[in-house]
Amino acid sequence: MRIGIVGGTGGMGEGFALRWCKRHAVIVGSRDAQKAREAAESYTKAALAAYGNTAGSITGDDNIELGKDVDILILSIPYEFIDDTCNKLADKIRDNCIVVSPIVPMMRTEAGFIYIPLEQGKRQAVEMIAEKLPPRQRIVSAFHTISEVKLKNIGQGLDADTFICGDDPGSVATLTQLVTEIAGLRPVYLGPLALTYQAEILTPMLLNAAKRNKLKHPGVKLI
Ligand SMILES: NC(=O)c1ccc[n+]([C@@H]2O[C@H](COP(=O)([O-])OP(=O)(O)OC[C@H]3O[C@@H](n4cnc5c(N)ncnc54)[C@H](OP(=O)(O)O)[C@@H]3O)[C@@H](O)[C@H]2O)c1
Repeated sequence: MRIGIVGGTGGMGEGFALRWCKRHAVIVGSRDAQKAREAAESYTKAALAAYGNTAGSITGDDNIELGKDVDILILSIPYEFIDDTCNKLADKIRDNCIVVSPIVPMMRTEAGFIYIPLEQGKRQAVEMIAEKLPPRQRIVSAFHTISEVKLKNIGQGLDADTFICGDDPGSVATLTQLVTEIAGLRPVYLGPLALTYQAEILTPMLLNAAKRNKLKHPGVKLI
């Protein structure tokens, strides 16, 4: 598959690229195409050093250009930039392109990390994306509780679960397959897209617990 990562120069984007280039053509995106190409070169070196060779590849392009020709689009950008980025992608992506949100609407306050929709009455990330990039059936979500540090560490499996939400069984099945290709990551279907807030809200909780108890990059695993 062709997987485009909007915001692929960030930590999560690097982790996704390193994990999925084993089998897929990954296109790392940035607002700056040159920055994207440099990131892709650097990730490719890391992937080749770790795997020897790969059936897939990593290349770089402008966020909007890459959107035109991918099967999967990962929106790996901060919550604040959803509207602006999706406006630019709206008439570019293919009708059958699946859009994945790992986005966590979260900020730091004196009390600790908080979930923005709960504290400020704003919408969860996927509802904003669904409005800008219809049809809703193509939008799915996952990876909210996966630390970028662990995702990038391709020498190790994740030993974690990730919740998946989505309305369309086909889109959910495609994302589930991609999740299972990441070593040690188990997909757990949570329900329709509207329930994504239940996964998003776990991340500020994990970060607060990690900070106050000196835990390193904790994740979630159902037992
Ligand atoms: N970090 C984690 O451990 C973690 C865990 C779970 C979920 N998440 C979620 O995953 C998403 C990506 O996380 P991240 O830590 O990789 O994010 P990040 O490093 O903060 O940002 C990712 C990329 O977003 C782009 N960006 C910055 N400002 C932008 C703007 N105004 N418009 C469009 N793009 C902009 C930047 O790329 P360019 O400058 O190259 O355009 C940046 O490299 C976030 O929504 C986060 O909540 C993160």
